[in-house]
Amino acid sequence: MFLRDVLEGLGKQQKTLPCKYLYDEIGSRLFERICELDDYYLTRTEAAIFSDNMVDMARQIGPGAAIVEPGAGNCEKVQPLLEQLDSPRGYYPIDISPEILLAARARIIAQLPDLEVQASVGDFTRPEVWRELDDLAAGKTVLFFPGSTIGNFDPCQAGELLQFFATRLRSGDAILIGTDLVKDSVVLERAYCDSEHVTAAFNKNILARINGELDADFDLSLFAHRAFYHPLRQRVEMHLVSLKEHCVRIAGRQVRFAEGETIHTENSHKYSVTGFNRLLDEAGFAPIRHWSDLQQRYAIHYAQVA
Ligand SMILES: C[S@@+](CC[C@H](N)C(=O)[O-])C[C@H]1O[C@@H](n2cnc3c(N)ncnc32)[C@H](O)[C@@H]1O
Repeated sequence: MFLRDVLEGLGKQQKTLPCKYLYDEIGSRLFERICELDDYYLTRTEAAIFSDNMVDMARQIGPGAAIVEPGAGNCEKVQPLLEQLDSPRGYYPIDISPEILLAARARIIAQLPDLEVQASVGDFTRPEVWRELDDLAAGKTVLFFPGSTIGNFDPCQAGELLQFFATRLRSGDAILIGTDLVKDSVVLERAYCDSEHVTAAFNKNILARINGELDADFDLSLFAHRAFYHPLRQRVEMHLVSLKEHCVRIAGRQVRFAEGETIHTENSHKYSVTGFNRLLDEAGFAPIRHWSDLQQRYAIHYAQVA
């Protein structure tokens, strides 16, 4: 799967790599460091919205809910919500990166010993991983999807993913989902091209991962990190730029890079509240309300399956 995706992506005219592969153990740790950076306003802003509105959010969700978190990472954001909720039925995190997920699961169990916690390792875009959750006892289920992870999908794929989520839920179930809002490009570009170069290390780590797991010989010093805001597409694009013409061997095959050619590694789409509500609505979630910060940098939406 990994090899197939890598060869397919690097065989395209605009070379690409799926961003889910940025998150091996090292990538997940680097992402945690990104979240702590001054330049990366997203995590700080989202955390403030949660802490200012947690009581309200818990009231909106109501008693006895099961919380499912696709792309849970270190599961840190959900903890205050689980503590605030009235008698949650259980917590079900899903992540593609097993090391970080299983460590987080142990921490949650230690901190909330009365809560049922079942962690699933897998790709949340695939039906297989959701089958393990088919037996959730009857009652309300709420998907918790913070971190603007939905922004990594282009709007068409994001709509399909939301629809895929909606079909796994029942009428009255809901989603609590974070989105980064359209804003000044200087603020956006600083967040993805930080002065401490942690995002550069995160981006380049995908090449180190390919070297380690797929018998490849990428020379990381021949690639530079580039992130820029594309105003028409309303997204920050992350690329790795080849600094000179050269060839890379991956599992016995040669991939040629021209000088200046890029590998497109990640998109981070930005939304308006109205635009995202439309996407939710088209996917089968009725938007109920949203919470935002004073500067309107970020929004957390609550939407319910009709
Ligand atoms: C942007 S981070 C957000 C992490 C966490 N939810 C937060 O808000 O801090 C994305 C997380 O989703 C996971 N992830 C990305 N794509 C995934 C996929 N297709 N299936 C499962 N997990 C995925 C990554 O491993 C990572 O932990």
